[in-house]
Amino acid sequence: MHFNGLVLASLATAAVAAPTSNVFNDVYNFDATLEEFYSRVSAHIGRFADGPPPTNCDLSKVSVPSSSLPPATGTLKYVAIGRGTQNYTCADATADTLPSQIGAVANLYDASCIAANYPDLLDLATDIVLNFSLPAPGVQTPLAPANVEILGHHYFETTTTPTFNLNTTPDKQFGVALTSKKNSTTAPQGSIIGQFNVGYGAVPWLYLTSITGTTDGITSVYRVKTAGGAAPATCSGQPAAFQIQYSAQYFFYV
Ligand SMILES: *[C@@H]1O[C@H](CO)[C@@H](O)[C@H](O)[C@H]1NC(C)=O
Ligand SMILES: *[C@@H]1O[C@H](CO)[C@@H](O)[C@H](O)[C@H]1NC(C)=O
Ligand SMILES: *[C@@H]1O[C@H](CO)[C@@H](O)[C@H](O)[C@H]1NC(C)=O
Repeated sequence: MHFNGLVLASLATAAVAAPTSNVFNDVYNFDATLEEFYSRVSAHIGRFADGPPPTNCDLSKVSVPSSSLPPATGTLKYVAIGRGTQNYTCADATADTLPSQIGAVANLYDASCIAANYPDLLDLATDIVLNFSLPAPGVQTPLAPANVEILGHHYFETTTTPTFNLNTTPDKQFGVALTSKKNSTTAPQGSIIGQFNVGYGAVPWLYLTSITGTTDGITSVYRVKTAGGAAPATCSGQPAAFQIQYSAQYFFYV
């Protein structure tokens, strides 16, 4: 059974198929009542999943969460959950040196249908996935524990060019966005500070606009609802290079 892009559906699928907390990396302990609840929700949600996302979900009423970032223009095309690392270097291990960001690597999972049909679950999913094992970069496999399909991959083409490659399989060629950071705002109070609620904070929310080389009409990308990813305040005791796990929502506009 497979419910593309539907968090609860897949939580329920897993809970029914294997009612042990192992499938959830021991993060959750479902009792029998909760499993039954998820089963029923699963059946309900499954009725909406009648085609491959993102094409079957109506994003016309969805917009990027409001913040002090410039308002969105254009048409929302995809919503993704990003799960990966922010990468940093430290020139030395002293408190006088600040970590430098050298890029990020993340898998992008297609959350368009969740955003369209279950917006309250979108935020929950973004927080939950940070507690699950980091998926290997570049993989095409769906996101645990929810079977959310891959939409693409995020990496830095150059140190100043955040890139979103949404070309995965031959039938999923959604384009490549090469972007430049236009605006940024501190993540709101209460954002998840890191995996298992341990860490240095949530990375800022960003507004990125496309530069030359972008395909398929993507004009802007927002990174919002960040969880984790921030570097320690100083390089004190840090190695020369390190990664900090994060998750975020990405909104792609055309
Ligand atoms: C960011 O966007 C806000 C709202 O549009 C604007 O007031 C601010 O000047 C922008 N900051 C930068 C650095 O562009
Ligand atoms: C960033 O970290 C990832 C691990 O998440 C690694 O695969 C990648 O090579 C690193 N990239 C850079 C530029 O350091
Ligand atoms: C992540 O793990 C921490 C520590 O176990 C827990 O307190 C928190 O509620 C978890 N977050 C989510 C969204 O499940």
